[in-house]
Amino acid sequence: MSDLVIDKNSRPLGASDLKVAPIAYGMWRFAGATGHQAEIDANAKVETALEAGITLFDTADVYGLDSNAPFGAAEELFGHVLKARPALRDQMVIASKGGIIPGTPYDSSAKYLREACEASLKRLQIETIDLYQVHRPDVLTHPAELADTLQTLRKEGKIREYGLSNVTAHQIAALQAHLDHPMATQQPELSALAIEPVTDGTLDLCMATDMTPLAWSPLAGGRLMLHASEAPTSQLADVITTLDTLADKHSASRTAIALAFVLAHPSKPIPIIGSQTPARIADAMSALDVTLSRQDWYAVYEAALGAPLP
Ligand SMILES: NC(=O)c1ccc[n+]([C@@H]2O[C@H](COP(=O)([O-])OP(=O)(O)OC[C@H]3O[C@@H](n4cnc5c(N)ncnc54)[C@H](OP(=O)(O)O)[C@@H]3O)[C@@H](O)[C@H]2O)c1
Repeated sequence: MSDLVIDKNSRPLGASDLKVAPIAYGMWRFAGATGHQAEIDANAKVETALEAGITLFDTADVYGLDSNAPFGAAEELFGHVLKARPALRDQMVIASKGGIIPGTPYDSSAKYLREACEASLKRLQIETIDLYQVHRPDVLTHPAELADTLQTLRKEGKIREYGLSNVTAHQIAALQAHLDHPMATQQPELSALAIEPVTDGTLDLCMATDMTPLAWSPLAGGRLMLHASEAPTSQLADVITTLDTLADKHSASRTAIALAFVLAHPSKPIPIIGSQTPARIADAMSALDVTLSRQDWYAVYEAALGAPLP
């Protein structure tokens, strides 16, 4: 029985020239506090991630709103970090997203997405966004229009590569049919609690057409870190108990096992971790040292399914 050895090397995003480490840092929770201290904290988080070997940084124009900060706050804060230390830019692959307008809620029309991308560039204080992602599907935009917008932004040098997030396999295929330049990434929710992309066609399509899956909320937004007795559902309690059993077996943290579960899929998903605690950001990299057996992986999968596989 062969074990699931995790590739620790940097890898390209899809068929593109962008190379990134196997774990990424996400900035959904990055903004919130304001003022000088916020910038000091932001610097520390970015520095810790880089020192740990992380190279892909994932933000979005809408990040910050959940922490009651204004639209654009997370990008703006990241922009201050980049402006203050220009040498950081060359060590990073910067990803952002657009297409959500709170209250609308989605717009991927040519006019809106272009304005959103240009506004992101301004807030980030950079010339080019390495990976621009459409945050959620706007079913009112024809894929031909979206393909044209993304390819035009790329030709203009405003973005280097593009991808989608939270879409169905059919929506991915519909866009692919209109693209001359391939999409580099998909960003679904994927964790030991959110296993749908394994069977809904998303990861299969990534493997079939060479796109890199970026797994959002790989610790289920912290729910996988609860004590089993605090878990609101028996499914979550089972997953946590299984992760802990494997953590004991592999002398690893529960975080490492949960991330290894994502990393071990053959589509080579890149978990985007979202902790705001520098020690936890650094600890996440220990997942790369975990080698799960097939039996370990399927034990987590069955716990997440809530039923044994036939
Ligand atoms: N495309 C989309 O629609 C979408 C949606 C959601 C997220 N995302 C992306 O995914 C990224 C990650 O999302 P996420 O923040 O939900 O990721 P996550 O890594 O699953 O969860 C991070 C949360 O778990 C908490 N946590 C509790 N115990 C922890 C431990 N032992 N180790 C690490 N974290 C622990 C963290 O708290 P502390 O901060 O206190 O450590 C933080 O609040 C986002 O930043 C964003 O880039 C994308």
